[in-house]
Amino acid sequence: MYRIGEAELKRIEGLFKSGNIFRYGMGGECDRFEESWARYVGVEHCRLSRSGTAALYTALVGMGVGPGDQVIVPSYTYMATALAVLAAGAIPVIADVDDSLTLCPKDLKKRITRHTRAIIPVHMVGLPCDMKKIVQIAEKNGLLVLEDACQAVGGAFEGKPLGSWGQAGAFSFNFFKNMTCGEGGAFVTNDELVYQRGSVAVDCCSFYWNPDEERDDLQFAGHNFRASEIEGAVLNVQLRRIKGMIKTMRSHKKTLLAQGLDEGLKSIKNNSIDHECGTHLGFKFRTEREARGFSDRLHGLGVGNFLPMDTGRHVYTRWEPILRYQGAHHPALDPFKIPANKAARIEYSEDMCARSLRILARSVLIPMHPDNTKARVAKMGEAIALAARSA
Ligand SMILES: Cc1ncc(COP(=O)(O)O)c(C=O)c1O
Repeated sequence: MYRIGEAELKRIEGLFKSGNIFRYGMGGECDRFEESWARYVGVEHCRLSRSGTAALYTALVGMGVGPGDQVIVPSYTYMATALAVLAAGAIPVIADVDDSLTLCPKDLKKRITRHTRAIIPVHMVGLPCDMKKIVQIAEKNGLLVLEDACQAVGGAFEGKPLGSWGQAGAFSFNFFKNMTCGEGGAFVTNDELVYQRGSVAVDCCSFYWNPDEERDDLQFAGHNFRASEIEGAVLNVQLRRIKGMIKTMRSHKKTLLAQGLDEGLKSIKNNSIDHECGTHLGFKFRTEREARGFSDRLHGLGVGNFLPMDTGRHVYTRWEPILRYQGAHHPALDPFKIPANKAARIEYSEDMCARSLRILARSVLIPMHPDNTKARVAKMGEAIALAARSA
């Protein structure tokens, strides 16, 4: 739901003219963004990287998650959430979503075992999870929480920013996100050690930049997911736009939601309607047939929408590497095969979260856009009313 334009171009032009396009050059765009984003989210640290997937993986490394651990992820999220768990060497356990299309706290409790180490609640399509309940469950069971806020950049739950509720939070800045730099990501945390270890995973050389370079706990083999100053520069401009965009989308969503409810439509559960991103308006139906009928009529009236069930690799039944137990490029590194995971391994099946499938097939999501004019929102409202009436 991004906006991008002249201001970003100008910033990059300045950067190119200066020649300071490298993260460890004379620039400072990445440093500035990391500071500003940490402040926005209300946490101590932020580490920019190449993608949301890298942000999730590096945060897990930071948190010390690895072989022998199970990590609970929801059934409705982009496959990368679960694949990041495998990349860290751990076993993803898939839990149901509820009517909010986010992790169901009740089902989450049921999936906890003695091997569970962490939970990754995912704030899908700008909709926050019930973070109060999830954090309570985590604390009661001694579990870590990594929020996947890749699709909810800039939103909050009950006034507290997404990404600041657990030990760490991860964001994506690619296609279709509330802020974008083409491809990019970042993790945030209040925990100094998570930040330092995660930074080694982002940049295998980062302990050399660190005054504590003698520390054994930071001298493990990392990767390179470093962002360049170009991404940093674009994001610094994007950051100026985000509050206004979210406010506009949230207000459009509330207007359209009220109209839909007046026509007898039922809303999906909104866990934090006054603080979420407002990127998607959701209605739920009694049957898939009703949902598809409404969706088709709305399309016919020129209003884009979709059933979450139809979003390919955002539904666990399409996570082939997991359903086929292909957890790495080499069997000796595959979390599904390594001896350290013998006790933590689980069986997956297409119907293991059947309740989620029913919910995802009976919901219709309508994307908002900050550039929608008042007239456009009014037209969308008329179309929603018409599509509801002709059920
Ligand atoms: C919920 C969720 N998690 C993780 C990711 C991974 O982000 P990226 O594509 O930037 O690696 C995405 C990306 O779309 C996402 O939607």
